[in-house]
Amino acid sequence: MISIIAAIGKNNELGKNNKLIWHIKEDMKYFREKTLGHKVIMGSRTWDSLPEKLPQRENIVVTTREFEGPDLIAHGVDEIIEKYTDSDEEVFIIGGGTLYMQFLPYAKNLYLTEVDATDKKATTYFPEFDKSKYNREVLKKGSENGLDYAFVKYTKK
Ligand SMILES: NC(=O)c1ccc[n+]([C@@H]2O[C@H](COP(=O)([O-])OP(=O)(O)OC[C@H]3O[C@@H](n4cnc5c(N)ncnc54)[C@H](OP(=O)(O)O)[C@@H]3O)[C@@H](O)[C@H]2O)c1
Repeated sequence: MISIIAAIGKNNELGKNNKLIWHIKEDMKYFREKTLGHKVIMGSRTWDSLPEKLPQRENIVVTTREFEGPDLIAHGVDEIIEKYTDSDEEVFIIGGGTLYMQFLPYAKNLYLTEVDATDKKATTYFPEFDKSKYNREVLKKGSENGLDYAFVKYTKK
């Protein structure tokens, strides 16, 4: 099973200049809890934005290049889609925009932290998707440093 996890702004903002836009401690904690022990799959730019390999998770990086660091390099997404779309194992697509775009049609769950803010200078966005095709469940709402957010789970109908 493929799950997507992302924090997005009101206009689907994801990132700015290869960095995150908002830093919400509770969201970092939530991300860690959800993904711990699972395979995490990311694009090379997201990998480059991390301070280090995400511990206690198999780090899979999609890239056309070869480099050291990740547990596994994948040179495309087709094999991952084929292997995990109908598997019992839950794997997480953790970004960025190019990976969300390619995996969205195959993802059963979207764990979206919906941040009640905008950033006109964002450089990466989460793809538009048809919300009528998903059940929407608000798991938790919170506020940190004046920033309201909600942990929302979309499950494909
Ligand atoms: N808000 C959030 O939850 C969240 C989560 C993650 C990331 N982000 C943000 O998103 C931004 C990065 O996203 P991005 O869209 O710019 O980049 P990205 O998706 O992280 O990485 C793009 C790179 O992935 C590789 N790639 C993608 N599809 C491929 C394919 N089919 N075959 C081979 N390689 C492929 C290419 O790497 P090569 O060029 O190496 O070939 C491509 O340049 C950053 O600002 C980051 O902070 C936000």
